[in-house]
Amino acid sequence: MNINPIDDLVNEHKGIITMLHIMQKISSKIQKRDNIEKDHIHKIIEFLSNFADKCHHGKEEDILFPEMAKNPENTILINELLGEHRAGRDYIRGMKNSLDDFSTGSPAAYHIAANMQGYTALLINHIQKETKELFVIAEKEIPENTKNLIEEKFEELERNVIGEGKHEEYHGWLKMLAGIYMV
Ligand SMILES: [Fe+2]
Ligand SMILES: [Fe+2]
Repeated sequence: MNINPIDDLVNEHKGIITMLHIMQKISSKIQKRDNIEKDHIHKIIEFLSNFADKCHHGKEEDILFPEMAKNPENTILINELLGEHRAGRDYIRGMKNSLDDFSTGSPAAYHIAANMQGYTALLINHIQKETKELFVIAEKEIPENTKNLIEEKFEELERNVIGEGKHEEYHGWLKMLAGIYMV
């Protein structure tokens, strides 16, 4: 049975949204000077940079957007979404730059909290826009056989970018972090 590539992206959004909720909890804990394990911040940054950015945004930027850009009417929306991916990368870089100096109550901790909040607000709006606008257009405009080709390319990108087994590991991290912070 063929998987619809849009469903694939929708599923990844679900994982990313869970992580955004965890980040909201963690950033408010940091602001209350609660102790947060550095390893949790490390895992969040790796998830954002590999799963959300390289894998998910990579599928959109390298495969889906070029297909949708064949219709010039989609250009404005695609450029807007590309700009948001870029802004997201700046927040991730901000978190990475402060990771080494992270400790409870340190300036680095507050810098990470601020970047987490900025990233979360940006991505919630971005995901909503893709769900309500981009994916609706994609379902309407992309023929079924092209969708199958897109899904094949998605799977190939996933293997090359994050590698076998990593996806499961990231879902394991989500479960672990949600168990700690979402209770
Ligand atoms: Fe996106
Ligand atoms: Fe997306």
